[in-house]
Amino acid sequence: MLQNQSHLFSLEEGHTYLNGAYMSPQLKSVEAIGIENLQKKGRPYSISGEDFYSGRKNLRIMFAELVDVPDYNQTAIIPSVSYGVATVANNIRLEKGDEILVVDEQFPSHIYAWQKLADKYGAHIKVASSPSIGEGRGKQWNETILEAITQKTVVVAIPHVHWADGTRFDLIEIRSRASEVGAKLIIDGTQSIGALPFSVKEIEPDALIVGGYKWMLGPYALGMAYFHESFNDGEPLEENWINRKNSEDFANLTNYQSDYQPGADRFSMGESSNFNLTPILTKSIEQLIDWGQDNIQSYCQSITDRGVDMLRGKGCFVEAEAYRGYHLFGVYLPSHFNKSAIKKRLTENNVYVSYRGDAIRVSPNVYNSEGEFLKFVDCIY
Ligand SMILES: Cc1ncc(COP(=O)(O)O)c(C=O)c1O
Repeated sequence: MLQNQSHLFSLEEGHTYLNGAYMSPQLKSVEAIGIENLQKKGRPYSISGEDFYSGRKNLRIMFAELVDVPDYNQTAIIPSVSYGVATVANNIRLEKGDEILVVDEQFPSHIYAWQKLADKYGAHIKVASSPSIGEGRGKQWNETILEAITQKTVVVAIPHVHWADGTRFDLIEIRSRASEVGAKLIIDGTQSIGALPFSVKEIEPDALIVGGYKWMLGPYALGMAYFHESFNDGEPLEENWINRKNSEDFANLTNYQSDYQPGADRFSMGESSNFNLTPILTKSIEQLIDWGQDNIQSYCQSITDRGVDMLRGKGCFVEAEAYRGYHLFGVYLPSHFNKSAIKKRLTENNVYVSYRGDAIRVSPNVYNSEGEFLKFVDCIY
């Protein structure tokens, strides 16, 4: 069983950080690599031509391992979720009247590109609305999604867990239903990948887009994506030299190439060799693979189980375990609780959580302890 890993982070005593869904803290080991690489630019002769390729390749290999992609060539390096989603949306053609299915209050970076695409073709965005707060909500929301997938559905664009309250969507069932009607499944894994197991081999999404700075413990402004082979002839958002065939041959770069590097690499952003950020994310993913996502879930469960029972005892609603992760969940307060007073109490006690929609979003990780979670629970009354 995984033990508390706070010694690997720089979080200070007296700060209860239950807000990994907002932004993860950085591993100390990773910080050291970041500083080392930043300093390298002071000695540019220490950055070789080979470095333009080796770092980005390592990152793609690590990400492929983390999310169980058989061939790392199907991964790409992206700066943000919006970039990854725009890449996918730009490579999908629709017919008038087609539908793109999303869930209620989905994160905007996984909405706007779909709205634009729908407008372009006269298609529609269909929203699988969230059931009211109460027992059976997650189960019912999953059923709503399955029912909303019809012959008109061309794209199902959803997250694995909802960013605001952690409701978990059953991607195996949703994939199966989407396949029945020939719809693509495009997943935003930003609030799950790194903390929750995910297998591309098993789930078979058409694309998986992940921001790096939350559960992958990486830096801001770097993320990763997986694209199914069906996108391999697609149009990237930009045309960067390194993504073209034979770019390794620096002396012949102006022997312009119409072909790209294999697989999904054409979708990698310009300057994806990023000597500062790429090694940071690579090292973070290495650590995540070492811990194992099942172990991270078990650890988060072990430190929150008792506290969640206590919250339910106080009249709060927390989604059933089968329909949420243990790393991210919403705590919905009973109507007679004073939310502003609770917020003030949490702030005064240096307990960091987020307020998303009607939920207090709690998102622990391996650097937290049960005592810290109970400190949060103590403030809820
Ligand atoms: C589910 C989800 N997707 C994406 C993002 C970030 O999007 P972007 O990388 O486009 O800034 C967030 C940030 O909170 C998020 O919660």
